[in-house]
Amino acid sequence: MRVAARIAELPPYLFARIDELKAEARAKGADLIELGIGDPDLPTPAHVVAALEKAARDPRHHQYPSYVGMEAFRRAAAAFYGRRFGVSLDAAREVVALIGSKEGIAHFPMAVVDPGDLVLVPDPGYPVYETWTRFVGGEVHKMPLRRDRGFLPDLAAIPTDVARRARVLWINYPNNPTAALATEAFYGDVVAFARAHDIIVASDLAYSEIYFGEPPRSFLETPGAMDVGIEFHSLSKTYNMTGWRVGWAAGNAMLVGALGKVKTHTDSGCFEAIQLAGVAALEGPQDVVADLRATYRARRDVLCGGLREVGFDIVEPKAAFYTLVACPAGLSSLDFTARLLAEAHVVATPATGFGAAGEGFVRLTLCAPEVRLVEAVRRMAKVAAAFR
Ligand SMILES: Cc1ncc(COP(=O)(O)O)c(C=O)c1O
Repeated sequence: MRVAARIAELPPYLFARIDELKAEARAKGADLIELGIGDPDLPTPAHVVAALEKAARDPRHHQYPSYVGMEAFRRAAAAFYGRRFGVSLDAAREVVALIGSKEGIAHFPMAVVDPGDLVLVPDPGYPVYETWTRFVGGEVHKMPLRRDRGFLPDLAAIPTDVARRARVLWINYPNNPTAALATEAFYGDVVAFARAHDIIVASDLAYSEIYFGEPPRSFLETPGAMDVGIEFHSLSKTYNMTGWRVGWAAGNAMLVGALGKVKTHTDSGCFEAIQLAGVAALEGPQDVVADLRATYRARRDVLCGGLREVGFDIVEPKAAFYTLVACPAGLSSLDFTARLLAEAHVVATPATGFGAAGEGFVRLTLCAPEVRLVEAVRRMAKVAAAFR
């Protein structure tokens, strides 16, 4: 018996070492502050849960759902794009429901990447872009995201032979793990680059509603984007629904259709009661989202303000619920993570978990109550003091 080469060749799971350190600390009775995992700690709004309850009791929703999503759900997603971004979408041809955006991000390479094709992925970046490119036999070209460029990839630095072979370009703003935003000009450059080299743009917009200043744009707002692109969206972060597994992809009809075709051969859609809860989320009161933003903003001020005061170099998050902390001189991302865990009982994620270009940073999340963030700062101050 043996497993497939693609599984055997998967790089070792970096977080395994951190899990070991966490287990050791817990065994010694440590009170760990978990700022490693990007999973909202607050509950799904009550009206969304109520919509699920109602729909779950209705036997009409107990059978296989449509592969591509209920019309009501796709219409609600299209209406959201219209309201929020001024992007007009045909719900029937330009939107497909997903079992969480991760599902669509994973399956998209199956629809558009042939063996040997190159895919451009951000480094650091959400690991699924790379893993599934490799699963379908594609090759990956990493685009480093550097602090001095606002964590935007330098498209001009992509070698011409790479651009010529590339089939897909992944972008993700608001960005995980850097919490950076894209500019309108950058998106314009992306469209021009995609047109020049006949490249598909896959934009991951999972964090669009978690922001601290100007609302983030959708890539699809950019003139010409609908000709070259698809965007992945999710209810997970906007409505604290990570456990529900519901999202959608929208954009160019051929790309959306190709992804839908993969799905007809893969899964049988998302439970209709969950889709109807998603409609309730998108069409119900949006003060819950404003409140959530206010909560993250207060947490950001406590954590980032506090860490800066005690001497850490912080990358101020513009959106999403992450912040990068620069490693004190001489420490790698993994070393710094280990020290935070051992000396402050604070769980961070080394940014190298998202790619080699993340070296020099750890990522902390804002997914913990303010009182815990205050405590995290107090404990991390001691680590900072050791480097003064
Ligand atoms: C950048 C990014 N994209 C997509 C996802 C997937 O979200 P979901 O599958 O819950 O929609 C995540 C989850 O953490 C993420 O960080």
